[in-house]
Amino acid sequence: MDDLKQRYLGQIAEAGDEAALESIRLAAVGKKGEVALKMRELGKMTPEERQVAGPALNALKDEINSALAAKKAALVDAALDARLREEWLDVTLHARSRPRGTIHPISQVTEEVTAIFAEMGFSVAEGPRIDTDWYNFDALNIPGHHPARAEMDTFYMHRAEGDNRPPHVLRTHTSPVQIRAMETMGAPMRIICPGGVYRADYDQTHTPMFHQVEGLAIDTDISMANLKWVLEEFVKAFFEVDGVDLRFRASHFPFTEPSAEVDIRCSWEGGTLKVGEGDDWLEILGSGMVHPKVLKAGGIDPDSWQGFAFGMGIDRIAMLKYGIPDLRAFFDSDLRWLRHYGFASLDQPTLHGGLSR
Ligand code: PHE
Repeated sequence: MDDLKQRYLGQIAEAGDEAALESIRLAAVGKKGEVALKMRELGKMTPEERQVAGPALNALKDEINSALAAKKAALVDAALDARLREEWLDVTLHARSRPRGTIHPISQVTEEVTAIFAEMGFSVAEGPRIDTDWYNFDALNIPGHHPARAEMDTFYMHRAEGDNRPPHVLRTHTSPVQIRAMETMGAPMRIICPGGVYRADYDQTHTPMFHQVEGLAIDTDISMANLKWVLEEFVKAFFEVDGVDLRFRASHFPFTEPSAEVDIRCSWEGGTLKVGEGDDWLEILGSGMVHPKVLKAGGIDPDSWQGFAFGMGIDRIAMLKYGIPDLRAFFDSDLRWLRHYGFASLDQPTLHGGLSR
């Protein structure tokens, strides 16, 4: 009996999981286990022998059963401990911090403008910021002697002596993308071209680099009426209001005929800019019907096609919408300014989801 006891208590102590424990239990104290077999032998004993062996066997059975129970409890505890260690979580840690970078107002407004025009069937075209003077001027009906070249305060790229390549400029507007789009896409088309442009100019509302978005719609029957409707729809959607006063002023651009500049009603009272009220007007874009010579330069037959074009200052309309008083701050990389005027990096402007929320 001592033998049995030692063997089973030893096995129980060594058991690694509940399944092992169960097979020990069956072998030791199960119905057909060793202890049961011994119990059966009691019948062959003398009454005196039985009186000693009976209680001893029962005691052995109890001892093995309680060793099994204790071991089982220990295994359950150990399993729980292991799981707790595995799934440990420090609830005193800080919550994950918000991303610190923000979307620059110019990127935000570019996305907003794109979302609005995309809804009206315009796709996005792009062109190089360094372009030839042919794309930037000549193709747009601005010949070499034209005063518009001087007015634009153009940055010319340096040319080494003997360099015969066409002169390059930092594009002074996004209009050269009109020509490139005509060349590659042909008519009909409806595009906008957002991007950086450059002019030597610097004050509260002018910086040497700024941004424009060009619009161009060409078809057989496009008119100024389409231009006016598109711009009104755009301005309402962009400023997220039911109505905004627009002023179309007759103007002149070499690449459109007729031409109009468009102003938006605003006030500068107290140094803050407000849209839709007040007695001031801020020019936001130039526009008109694409000049036949420009269509021809882009390889489109002006006898079959006509269209409107506009060029709008992205930085301007960003200042207006978000009440930013000084354009120069856009490009100062001042972190305090960026945190104040920046936008949440995961919000995507859409017309149905809200442009600026
Ligand atoms: N390119 C003109 C500018 O920069 C704007 C414009 C674009 C005007 C298209 C008419 C048509 O001032």
